[in-house]
Amino acid sequence: MLENTVRQAATTDAEEVRSIVEGLSRPEKMISPKYFYDETGSKLFDEITKLPEYYPTQTELGIMRSCVGEIAALAGEQASLIEFGSGSSLKTHVLLQNLRSLAAYVPVDISEEHLLASAEALRGDYPHIEIIPVVADFTKPFELPTPAIMPVKNIVYFPGSTIGNFEHEDSRALLEVMYGEAGANGALLIGVDLQKDTAILERAYNDSAGVTAAFNRNMLTHLNREFGSDFNVEAYRHDALYNVDKGRIELRLVAESAQTVRLGDASIEIDAGEGILTEYSHKYTLEGFAELAASAGFTVERVWTDEDKLFSVQYLVRD
Ligand code: TRP
Repeated sequence: MLENTVRQAATTDAEEVRSIVEGLSRPEKMISPKYFYDETGSKLFDEITKLPEYYPTQTELGIMRSCVGEIAALAGEQASLIEFGSGSSLKTHVLLQNLRSLAAYVPVDISEEHLLASAEALRGDYPHIEIIPVVADFTKPFELPTPAIMPVKNIVYFPGSTIGNFEHEDSRALLEVMYGEAGANGALLIGVDLQKDTAILERAYNDSAGVTAAFNRNMLTHLNREFGSDFNVEAYRHDALYNVDKGRIELRLVAESAQTVRLGDASIEIDAGEGILTEYSHKYTLEGFAELAASAGFTVERVWTDEDKLFSVQYLVRD
C-alpha cells in the first residue's frame, strides 16, 4: 500500500444495488455514470476521444500545444502539478514536457490499477520528475503527499471538461475541493467545453459509427454482469439531446418497448419510450464559467480557446 494514500471504505454490492434501484425508482429514472467504466466501457471511451465528430479531445490538445509556453510562464519554477484524474492523456505529456523543473506530478484517481499503471509509464518517460499517485475519490478533500522538493505552489489540473459532467451544485463543491488542494498561492488549470450550435454538439455525442451508443448501452451489460440484473440491452436506444435552456447534453437510454427489469429483490417497470438518464455534459459560456469559478473562490486569470471558440483552457487563481 502506498504511503500518502487516502482510501475510501468500500461499498458493498447490496448497498450499490440499493442505490441503483433508488435511481431507477425516481420520477425521472437515472443510473450513475460511474457504471460506464468497466473494461469494455473504458476502451469504448478511448475510441470516442478519437472520433472525428467528438471535437473536444483534439481541440483541447491543440489549445494545450499552442499555449503551453504561456502556461509554463504562469506556473513558474518548482510548482507541483496535481491532476484530478489518472493522467493517461496526451495533454498531460504536453505539460510534463514543458513545465519548468516541476517539484512533483501527483495524479489522483479512485481506480487504483489504472492509476498505478499510468504512473509507472510516466516514470519511465520522465525519470527526473517525482511522480506520486494518490488513490482517492477527488470529489472529497484528500491529503496531499509531501514531495522531496518543496513546491512553490500547487497547480491543480482538470482536463477533458469533466467539470461539465457534474451538476451545478456538485461542480461548485468540486471546485471548492480544488481550491482547498491548491492551497495559498495555488492555481487551477481546467478544460471547459463551450456552448455552441446544437447540431455540432449533438453530433459529438451521437457519432455516425455508433461508438457513443455502444458506450452508453454497455452500462446495462455491465450492470447485468456485476449485479445480476436482466436488462434486455438490445431494447434500449441511445439518445443524446442538447437542452439549450440548461446548456447541457443529456444522455439517455430509451426503452423501445415496455420493459420489466429485475435487480436484487426489486422489479422495475419501464414504459415504452421512457428514458433512463445516464449522464449530463454541461457546456458553458465564458461568463457563466467565470461566475461558477467565482462562487468557489477562483478568479479567471487567462483563457485560451481554439479559433472557432469550440473549447477553452482556463487558468484560475485563488482570490
Ligand atoms: N467530459 C467529457 C464530455 O462530457 C467526456 C465524457 C464523459 C463523455 N462522459 C461521456 C463523452 C459520455 C461522451 C459520452 O464530453
